[in-house]
Amino acid sequence: MRKQIVSGNWKMNKTESETTQLIEELKQQDLKSSVKVFVAPTFVNLSAAVKATKDSGIHVAAQNMHQSASGAFTGEISSSMLLDIGVRHVILGHSERRAYFGETDELLKEKVQAALQAGLHVIFCFGEELEERKSETHFDVVKKQLSTALFDLDATQWQQIVLAYEPVWAIGTGETASPEQAQEMHAFIRSLIRENYDSTCADAVSILYGGSVKPANATEIFSQADVDGGLIGGASLQAEDFAAIVNGF
Ligand code: PGA
Repeated sequence: MRKQIVSGNWKMNKTESETTQLIEELKQQDLKSSVKVFVAPTFVNLSAAVKATKDSGIHVAAQNMHQSASGAFTGEISSSMLLDIGVRHVILGHSERRAYFGETDELLKEKVQAALQAGLHVIFCFGEELEERKSETHFDVVKKQLSTALFDLDATQWQQIVLAYEPVWAIGTGETASPEQAQEMHAFIRSLIRENYDSTCADAVSILYGGSVKPANATEIFSQADVDGGLIGGASLQAEDFAAIVNGF
């Protein structure tokens, strides 16, 4: 059975004390134990988050990482730095990294390979923009994003991958893909993996949906056959809302 996963992406929000406080609030919530829960605070608060989540069953992910092991890359963070403070997961390819920091599928391929080789697990984000959906090229766009960044991986490396389909037009906009639109794309994504690898690999990969998931729409989205959870931005900054989404399964 595929893992059910809900991950909060806190983006550039929360100071260290706010990070610890939100985690303490989350720990007070009754979170469904069948769901694997992640929080992804900003780099400077990862260490505090690892300490605060110890023995809680909540996992910590980084929001990004550099593809090189070390070196003259001012302002960057490496895989070994994440691992050393107890972080085992990294989000790569978020649409904000693509749009504001110029991350391309080719660069993301390097980042994914570096992360996996270091022993990190990757939550890989991708998804089409509004114009691409309107011009009905969204399936082609997603296919290219996945094939460039991921389809050179070995089948065994997919055990370290979680996918997060996030249509850019639904992120932070309050506009959600309909459950049918999410299911249609998730089924397509799984069929691509099946074509490039096999059914065992395709059936084992958790595919999350992201984009304006809220307590009010989580259950309907998560009930779709190929939707295995969510990547949550805005609604993950509030413990009750995030818990309601986790418990939306
Ligand atoms: P949102 O963000 O839930 O605020 O739309 C999702 C994301 O960016 O991962």
